[in-house]
Amino acid sequence: NSRRVILQDEVKHVLEPFELSDEQLRRVMANLNTQMTNGLKSNDSENNDLAMFPTFVNFRPNGQESGEYLVVDLGGSNFRVSHVTIEGRNRLRLKNKIFLIPHSLLLGEGEKLFDYIAECLQRFIDDNSLATHKPADYKFDLAFTFSFPCTQTSLSQATLVSWTKGFSCTGVVGNDVVLLLQNAIDRRQTLKVQVVALVNDTVGTLMACSSIYRDCRVGVILGTGTNACYFENLDNIPKCTGEWNQSTKQMVINTEWGALGKHGCLDFIRTKIDRELDESSLTPNEQVFEKMISALYLGEIVRLIIIDLVQSSILFPGRMQKAPSRACDYNIFLSLRGSFYAKHVADIECDTTEDLSVTASILTSIGIHDPTYDDCYIIREVCKTVSLRAAKLAAAVIAVVVNRVNMPSVTVGVDGTLFRHHVRFRKNLIRTMSRLVPRTHRLVLSEDGSSKGSALVAAVNRHTQETLT
Ligand code: BG6
Ligand code: GLC
Repeated sequence: NSRRVILQDEVKHVLEPFELSDEQLRRVMANLNTQMTNGLKSNDSENNDLAMFPTFVNFRPNGQESGEYLVVDLGGSNFRVSHVTIEGRNRLRLKNKIFLIPHSLLLGEGEKLFDYIAECLQRFIDDNSLATHKPADYKFDLAFTFSFPCTQTSLSQATLVSWTKGFSCTGVVGNDVVLLLQNAIDRRQTLKVQVVALVNDTVGTLMACSSIYRDCRVGVILGTGTNACYFENLDNIPKCTGEWNQSTKQMVINTEWGALGKHGCLDFIRTKIDRELDESSLTPNEQVFEKMISALYLGEIVRLIIIDLVQSSILFPGRMQKAPSRACDYNIFLSLRGSFYAKHVADIECDTTEDLSVTASILTSIGIHDPTYDDCYIIREVCKTVSLRAAKLAAAVIAVVVNRVNMPSVTVGVDGTLFRHHVRFRKNLIRTMSRLVPRTHRLVLSEDGSSKGSALVAAVNRHTQETLT
């Protein structure tokens, strides 16, 4: 017992920097708000954290959309190809297939990645006989859900600014990804597909939800990465000087809030572990905020804290010496970046068994054999703390965007594995938001991912083109 008390004090000391007060959250909110305003003024990436990309989506689905569309969805935990049929409001049918992308393709030549996407598209069309009864000159319209930061000059022109979330293909940054995909499609002469729109996953999520909820103005992703988009008044976007549609009053802005903190505005809450994780990542000093909360990094934060606790003999004291045959498993866990997942964090923090057997079996499955009750208890505390911090920070940033939308009530469409599957994360997020947002709001889960929303964008685009000609 006495050992437990001493341990708890030591553990508390290590975890304290991860605990955030509402005052700190409000400071994060103020900083994000300033960065959003700056990002809307100019594209000065030397000084601004946030890109605040205009998306050229200046409409909401009105229920009149129709037609059939293909969607490829790249950038989340799954790469997906979908076929979406739209026949008016709430009448969307979707068929999709997940394809595995070999890890080597994410780090190799961009052209190979795009060729692979085109190959999957061909397989999907053939397997579902989608082209069978089409006229010889028929071309499918395709929306490309591409969940990375892109500068757009129209719906169908988008230059990749940088890779995020561990992708790192050569020859793509600085190029138009719509063109890269179109070229790969055209290299397969049998594929009759026209890429008509590039849509960030947040925008797909927003569009899908706003076709159902009239007051939906914000789309949020809490998944492998994190980001949000929302409808902003054109008057508030000084950098958007428009040759384009003057009749419009609003435009969806892709905030790319994952980059918050690039110039130090989160330093007051960043811990030594956050810095360590950042420094050893593929992209040091990029996506600072994303690295504190999203699913790709949550497990790694916990793993680094565990290493800290092992090094100060708080966890597994003397165990590695006592069980030399198993030391190598420990070492794999301790030395292998990314070997602890967000899913482990979620499952461990929800472990309510008396003997913490769920935690013990997860630890065993990743090579930490025969953990003691104390080990499990401490690791559960670590998981709870890291996940609570992520939920609070997510609540703070969503609150800022909701507060900027000038409506009595706001619905936020949300997607991503963190929100979908992590029960405690979601509860903590909702609880914190209720303290930070004075107005009525609700978070709704977007069904079927971004694909429906991206198809809706393609549908509105087709309708507009038809109206113009
Ligand atoms: C889905 C989208 O809606 O959410 C993906 O279809 C997106 O493209 C994803 O990236 C985010 O979830 P995760 O957790 O898979 O990154
Ligand atoms: C990353 C990407 C962003 C995307 C988000 C969620 O932050 O840069 O574009 O929306 O992940 O997938």
